[in-house]
Amino acid sequence: MSSTDGNVIEHENYPTPEAAVRALLNKIDFKADDSFFEPCCGDLSDADGNELPCIFNLVPLDIMQKEWAEIRMGREFLTTDYGCRKFDVIITNPPFSLSTEFLRKCKSLLAPGGTLIFLQRVNWLGSKKRVRFWQEVGMPSKSPILVPRPKFDKSKKGTDSCEYAWYIYDNGDRTRNIPFGLSHSIAEGYKID
Ligand SMILES: C[S@@+](CC[C@H](N)C(=O)[O-])C[C@H]1O[C@@H](n2cnc3c(N)ncnc32)[C@H](O)[C@@H]1O
Repeated sequence: MSSTDGNVIEHENYPTPEAAVRALLNKIDFKADDSFFEPCCGDLSDADGNELPCIFNLVPLDIMQKEWAEIRMGREFLTTDYGCRKFDVIITNPPFSLSTEFLRKCKSLLAPGGTLIFLQRVNWLGSKKRVRFWQEVGMPSKSPILVPRPKFDKSKKGTDSCEYAWYIYDNGDRTRNIPFGLSHSIAEGYKID
């Protein structure tokens, strides 16, 4: 995800900052037998084979309970048929240009009592072309806004100019520690005055 300056990295490969992921995961009560899915997990390890601190790796569940897709690793999400599989928890930061398709499909893959969390720009809410989409999928019940604003484009100075939020649909009471409506998600280790 990047600000709309026209320069987009191939496949919109913008990893979510580790401190933002940790701040979110610290507030989630996973259940011991939860299944988890990250539909565009990004790189799981670096060139030396060291595990990277991405959403998939940081979710505190056994590897056998986790599933992933990632187009750059030969698993395209939108065209994959998952049959009757459903997942208890889905957390992702999707490619911005495919966000509506990703959200629709993620909702269809969510198990009853499941929790879906999606990173997205706040100004994704008010677009005229997405009014029908929102009527169809429903608004998230919780939307903690990331502090500080994340920096997705490392070539730029400072942080991105727009706000981002975790869009949360929680049918399983796993996010008791996150308030309903708008709130803040303060990056782990980030000091505020
Ligand atoms: C904004 S990055 C986020 C990566 C990761 N979810 C995270 O939060 O760090 C989007 C990712 O989606 C992957 N991607 C793009 N189109 C995809 C598709 N159709 N199916 C699966 N992955 C896709 C990209 O390669 C990239 O790794």
